[in-house]
Amino acid sequence: MTAQDAPTETTATVSTLDSLQETPAIILGIETSCDETAAAVVSGPSDILSSVVSSQVDLHARYGGVVPEIASRAHVEMLTPVVAQAVIEAGLGDHDVEAVAATAGPGLIGALLVGVSAAKSLALAWDVPFVAVNHLEAHLYSSFLEEPDLELPVVVLLVSGGHTLLVLMEAFGRYRLIGQTLDDAAGEAFDKVARFMDLGYPGGPVIDRLAMTGDSEAVAFPRPMRNDGYDFSFSGLKTAVVNHVRAHPDDDVADIAASFQEAVVDVLVHKARKAAEEFGAKGLCLAGGVAANSSLRERLLDACVAAGISGFLPSRSMCTDNAAMVAAAGWQRLQLDGPSSLEVGADPNLPLPFI
Ligand code: KG4
Ligand code: ZN
Repeated sequence: MTAQDAPTETTATVSTLDSLQETPAIILGIETSCDETAAAVVSGPSDILSSVVSSQVDLHARYGGVVPEIASRAHVEMLTPVVAQAVIEAGLGDHDVEAVAATAGPGLIGALLVGVSAAKSLALAWDVPFVAVNHLEAHLYSSFLEEPDLELPVVVLLVSGGHTLLVLMEAFGRYRLIGQTLDDAAGEAFDKVARFMDLGYPGGPVIDRLAMTGDSEAVAFPRPMRNDGYDFSFSGLKTAVVNHVRAHPDDDVADIAASFQEAVVDVLVHKARKAAEEFGAKGLCLAGGVAANSSLRERLLDACVAAGISGFLPSRSMCTDNAAMVAAAGWQRLQLDGPSSLEVGADPNLPLPFI
């Protein structure tokens, strides 16, 4: 339908449009906190018009982990084409973008600076607001992009390469920290175990795949802190795997992968369900790269059914780093706080603002 075909607007429609003008609707999101160069265009809080992700995983694989300097250079090279593709795929021109959001932290400082500088430059050139976004807050919004009507409060289990958090999301912008890892993040444990076993990088997807053909009860690995509050610890589990493999070098690799994964998933799901029940959450959501894990997804949904609460699993592409979640969090931040100052810089240790 063209503008000329549009029916005459009622007063109610006009006032809705007036309020929309206060919060820019079309947000370009930019994500460069680690090893994905991503850009997306999102309309309002959850309508994804485009989402482009250029992964650097092949560049880092030979080093067994992300090399910060290589990541920064690859972001510099890829960001302009990735942004251009996101705007084109959204069916828009540059002048249709109404705000630019970028991940300002936490993450690798050089990598963050590429995205933040680009976002500020675009905001200045297009004369639209700039919004600095917290990467963890962006992960919290990934479920809402695909399920906008999710009822709050929800418990979010945010499991990535750098973080393992249990968060009670009471309202948009209102988060309570329930638990977090005291040492390695869950994804870091997957990556370190895979590296030790020479399985390649990133370790999570490889272990996930291998575990499908292994026996998860072959080795009874420890469940660190399973019945001890809401914090996590994965460093001892990783050491237990290393010690077991050294002592039993001929054990089946798939069995080790499945048994290790089972121990991680068991602890994560047990605590997430307990938190959802204790804090009266209406639902339980997964977020972050480890949320792509097949066993975790299956077991979390089973736990939700058993607890009588709704479970929501974002699609795998929405779990790993992407810019649609950055644009969505940017929209919420614009609603809550308005635009960020151009003085706001990248912060590698930016904390999630908890109440
Ligand atoms: O959220 P993300 O894309 O980047 C960070 O912000 O860290 O998460 C990356 C992490 C890596 O540790 C990777 O091994 C893990 O997510 N991961 C998985 C799976 N896919 C990615 N872990 C377990 N199973 C998977 N299928
Ligand atoms: Zn992430």
